[in-house]
Amino acid sequence: MSTRLADVTAPPRPRPPAEADFGRVRQEVDAALGEFLDAQARDPADRCLPPLVGVLREFVRGGKRLRPLFCYCGWLAAGGDPSGGPVARAGAALELFHSFALIHDDVMDSSDTRRGRPTVHRQLAARYQGDDEPSAARFGVNAAILLGDLCLAWADEMLLTAGLGEDDLRRASPVLHAMRSEVMAGQYLDLAGEWTEDVLDRSWRALRLKTAGYTVERPLQIGAALAGGTPALLRWCSAYGRPLGEAFQLRDDLLGVFGEPGTTGKSVLDDLREGKQTVLMALTWRRAGPRQRAVIRELHGAPGLDEDGAARLRDVITATGAEDVVGELIEARAREARGALDSAGLPAVARRAFAELVHQAIRRTR
Ligand code: IPE
Ligand code: IPE
Ligand code: MG
Ligand code: MG
Repeated sequence: MSTRLADVTAPPRPRPPAEADFGRVRQEVDAALGEFLDAQARDPADRCLPPLVGVLREFVRGGKRLRPLFCYCGWLAAGGDPSGGPVARAGAALELFHSFALIHDDVMDSSDTRRGRPTVHRQLAARYQGDDEPSAARFGVNAAILLGDLCLAWADEMLLTAGLGEDDLRRASPVLHAMRSEVMAGQYLDLAGEWTEDVLDRSWRALRLKTAGYTVERPLQIGAALAGGTPALLRWCSAYGRPLGEAFQLRDDLLGVFGEPGTTGKSVLDDLREGKQTVLMALTWRRAGPRQRAVIRELHGAPGLDEDGAARLRDVITATGAEDVVGELIEARAREARGALDSAGLPAVARRAFAELVHQAIRRTR
C-alpha cells in the first residue's frame, strides 16, 4: 500500500483486534452511508432531491452488507489494517452501487417488495400527486430509474472521497470498471428469453455476470487492490470468489421460489411470474418430460400467475430433481471456495473471516 500523508502524521492507531469484527464493519458502513447521504441532503443540486435522499436512506438500511464485508476481507488478505478505516467507506460505496443495481432490478423484474418493504418504484409511485394510476406507476418507474442513476453516480463520488491513496484507487479502478460492465451485461442476459437450446449456458453466464462478480469476486479484489495486493492475490480472489459468488446466486434462485417471504423480504412469485430463466429453471426445463414442459410453457412467465399456479411450477421443479441438483451445486461450490482457502497461505485473521463468509453467503435464509 502506498504511504499517505495521514499515515505519517496521525497518532499511532489502537492495536488491531485479533479477529475481524464484522459487526463493527457493518456499523462503520452504516455510519459512512448515513454521513454521505446527510451531506447530499444538506447541499442538494435542487430542493427536489432531499425527499429522494430520504427514500434512499430508508432503503439502504435493510441490506446484509455482504459486499462491504467481502471488500474488507480482500483488504485483510492483502495485509490491510483490521481496524478498517477507509476500506469501510469503500465498502459503503459498493453498497451504493448495490442500491443502484437493486432499484433498477426491481423495475426490470416488476417486483413489489424488497427488504420487507415496497420497492422504491412502488414507494415513489405512491408519492405521485394525482389519482390516475397508470400515470402514478409510470412516474414511480421513471423516478426510480433516476434514483438508481444517482446511486451509481454517488457510488463513484463516495469512493473518490473515501480518504484512499491515489495509487490505491488507481490499482482498484480496472476491477471497478470490469465489475460495472459485468453487471449490466448480466442484467441484459437475464431479461426473459425463449426456451432455446442454449438456455442453460445463457443462465449460467447471466448468473456469473449479474451477481457472482459484483457480490464476491470483485469486492474482494477491490479491497485487496486498495491494500496493495499483488496480482497473484487478485487471482486468488477469483479462485475463492467465483465459486462462492455462484453459490450465492444459486441460493438466491432457490430462495426466490421456495423461500419464506417474511424472512427474505421478497416475493416468491416474481421469478416465476416474470419467467426468469434462472439456472434452477433452466435445469428444470432440461430435465422435464413433455407434460412437465407443457406446465412450464403454460405457467412460467404468465402475467396473472397466482399461488396455485406457482405451487404447480414448484412441484415440477422438485419432481425433475432440479431443486436437489441446485442444492448439490451450491455445496460443490462451497467446497471449491474452502479448498481455495486451504491453499492460500493467508494471515490467520483473514482465513477465519473468509471461512465465516462462505457460511454467510450460502447458508442464508434471507
Ligand atoms: C440481492 O442481494 C440481490 C442479488 C444480487 C441476488 P443481497 O441478498 O446481498 O441483498 P441485501 O443487500 O442483503 O438486501
Ligand atoms: C439481482 O438478481 C441482480 C442485481 C441486482 C444486479 P435477481 O433479480 O435474481 O435478485 P433478487 O432476487 O431480485 O434480489
Ligand atoms: Mg430481481
Ligand atoms: Mg433480476
